[in-house]
Order: sequence, then structure tokens, then C-alpha cells
Amino acid sequence: MSEIKSTDIDRLVRRATQARDHAYAPHSHFYVGSAVLVEDGQIVDGCNVENASYSLCMCAERTAAAAAVASGHRNIRAVAVASIGGVSPCGACRQFLAEFNYEMVVICVNVIDGSRRTFKLSSLLPEAFDATHLPAQS
Ligand code: THU
Repeated sequence: MSEIKSTDIDRLVRRATQARDHAYAPHSHFYVGSAVLVEDGQIVDGCNVENASYSLCMCAERTAAAAAVASGHRNIRAVAVASIGGVSPCGACRQFLAEFNYEMVVICVNVIDGSRRTFKLSSLLPEAFDATHLPAQS
């Protein structure tokens, strides 16, 4: 897979930052936006969506990945996550994202100063569990 253009990374970061405006986080007040870049250059947004029944809260990265799949895209080249502090995806999100390309680029954006940290998902989740560990289907 070819290197992602820096203009696409900039677009992705902008979209994640804008998507944060839609975050529904009345319980934690921690607002997170996300955006995923799919194979044909399209970008799909996500944000965290919380619930009074706390365990039902959904992270921004997972809503973005699920929205991409729901619109027909199963290969994610990069994901941006925008928050105060520029946090990296939680463990559950790392596993969820790995399903759609273990080598995707992960960009964590601090909305306070615009600073970014960039990783490969495979480095954030070594030894991921994947379909090769499942028994073969007949
Ligand atoms: N959250 C995300 O959406 N993404 C992350 O990477 C970390 C945490 C959300 C989940 C919950 O709505 C809130 O932040 C506080 O944990």
C-alpha cells in the first residue's frame, strides 16, 4: 500500500476535529471526534456516543469504523482521533480497528494545540487476535 499523501492526512485530521462537535458525551464530558480514510480516498466520520447505562458508551473510533463498513468500506487506511490531550485509542478500539487493516495509520490529535502523534496500529496492538486464530470453517 502506498504512502498516504500529507494532504489526505490533513483532511482527515480536519474531519476528525470537526466531527468532535457532534460528540454526545453528557456523562463524561470528554468529547472525541474521529474520521477514517478508506481505500478510495473517502473519509467517514465518527464521534463518541454515550448512554446513561454507562457500559453502552461507544467510542468515536468505533462509530467511525462501523459507519465506514455500513457505507461499504472494509479497508481503512488511516484513522484520526481528536480530543483534548490527543489520547490514543482504547484497547477495545485497537482490537476493533485491527479487523479492518492491522497496518493502518493512527493519528492522535490534541485539539488544544493541534499537535499530532502518529502510530501504526500494529505497534499499538502487538499480537492482535484475528481470524487466523479461529478454527477453519467447513
Ligand atoms: N473515548 C473515545 O471515544 N475514544 C477514545 O480513544 C478514548 C475514550 C470516549 C469514550 C467515552 O465516551 C469517553 O471518551 C470517556 O471515556
